[in-house]
Amino acid sequence: VAWLTDRIFFKNGYSSEALLFDITHIMADTIDLEKMQKKVLSAIMGAMKIERGAVLMVEGHKFSDGNAVRFGKNDFKKLDPLFYEKKLRPVYVFDELEEGKLKNSFRDCGVAVAVPVLAEGNFIAVFVFGQKMSGDIYEAQDINFLRVFAKESGIAIHNALSYKKIKEFSATLEKKVEDRTKELRAAHKREIEKAEEVARLKDEFVFIAAHELKTPVAAIRGFIDLISEETKHFPRDVKNSLDSISMASVHLNQLVTDLLEVARNEAGTIKLNMAPHYFRHILEIVLKELNSLINKNKIKIKLHLMSDGPILCDELKLKEVLFNLIGNAIKYNREGGDIHISAFRTPGNGLFIIEVNDTGYGIPHEKQNKVFQKFFRAAAPGTESILGTGLGLFVSRMLVEKMNGSIAFSSVEGRGSTFALTLHCADTRAVNKIIKNN
Ligand SMILES: Nc1ncnc2c1ncn2[C@@H]1O[C@H](COP(=O)(O)OP(=O)(O)OP(=O)(O)O)[C@@H](O)[C@H]1O
Ligand SMILES: [Mg+2]
Repeated sequence: VAWLTDRIFFKNGYSSEALLFDITHIMADTIDLEKMQKKVLSAIMGAMKIERGAVLMVEGHKFSDGNAVRFGKNDFKKLDPLFYEKKLRPVYVFDELEEGKLKNSFRDCGVAVAVPVLAEGNFIAVFVFGQKMSGDIYEAQDINFLRVFAKESGIAIHNALSYKKIKEFSATLEKKVEDRTKELRAAHKREIEKAEEVARLKDEFVFIAAHELKTPVAAIRGFIDLISEETKHFPRDVKNSLDSISMASVHLNQLVTDLLEVARNEAGTIKLNMAPHYFRHILEIVLKELNSLINKNKIKIKLHLMSDGPILCDELKLKEVLFNLIGNAIKYNREGGDIHISAFRTPGNGLFIIEVNDTGYGIPHEKQNKVFQKFFRAAAPGTESILGTGLGLFVSRMLVEKMNGSIAFSSVEGRGSTFALTLHCADTRAVNKIIKNN
């Protein structure tokens, strides 16, 4: 046996077993198809001392790609791809082929041996080899080895090919996902831009509408005031109607003012004219404006002015805020209820606090955290029929904060509410200035 193995395995100076062992290792360790092709080719060619070699992958009755050592790219254009063979032979040896098309194509391409590789019965690749460097013919040992090799390599090449395809697939998938994400982002951006444009147009519309309403509303109020001075001579029902018109116009004016403040705030164009002002003076004007509403609801106003400023504020804005707070204290009060308005300085830190307290419906506890939201209305029991937009407190807080102040409240449902403003006192120098100006 030893003699026989020597004869078969070592005649060409290599051991078939060792070579097969090497190649099995290469195939087990390498999942990358191209690397595997190169390593296997060089192992076989090195051991058998073959001049040139290649592995050609077969796909859809064509050679797809492959790897070649000292064969050129175009060398296999004329190679008979063996696809028309009725039954593939394990190994094709040039010297053993009968004359014909196949042999001619081998001759043209310089192929001495071709080894088809099958996986699960499918023809997936072919190894082709050129002449041996010595010019010797391929011996039985070589052919036997290639026969065994062809069997072994089928599944390994098939796996490497599947791996490659999965890798390519996941790469295209990744690319597709990336492209699609980009598209979606762009579409999203367009949508946002569109929405922003719509929002901008809406703000602009509200601003223009509110601004244009201001003048006619002021005119209506002016004329009502004018007529109201003559009411002595009017019949009772005309007087009552006039009162209603007056109250409605006050409300309309407040609404337009609030809308305008919201629009200005959104456009970022609120301008403040901060100066020292006496609180009592501002309060008087506000109470006068609310007079008909106070009378109609038979509200008793009680003032507790422990200190009278001056405070640092924008006169018009503070009027708006007080108008909203006292307006609410009237609206959401019971008929004949009280409103206590207090004002005092906190000792030491120069803060001025104004409190408006009412004896009305109060705000349900669970709704209190929303009171300053735009358009929020608590709709507490009993208040359903009271008209309002839910803008007053939103605007008030915004304006107070712009004046470096703050607003807070406490409320007990069914008992009443207290809203408190904190503003800054004006310093003495500023006080002197207003005294001079008056
Ligand atoms: N003094 C108060 N007593 C009871 N509830 C109040 C009082 N002030 C505000 N609220 C509640 O808070 C809500 C929001 O008040 P806000 O002044 O912002 O809006 P509004 O009075 O409804 O409408 P408007 O925009 O005309 O002022 C009111 O709808 C009301 O439910
Ligand atoms: Mg209000």
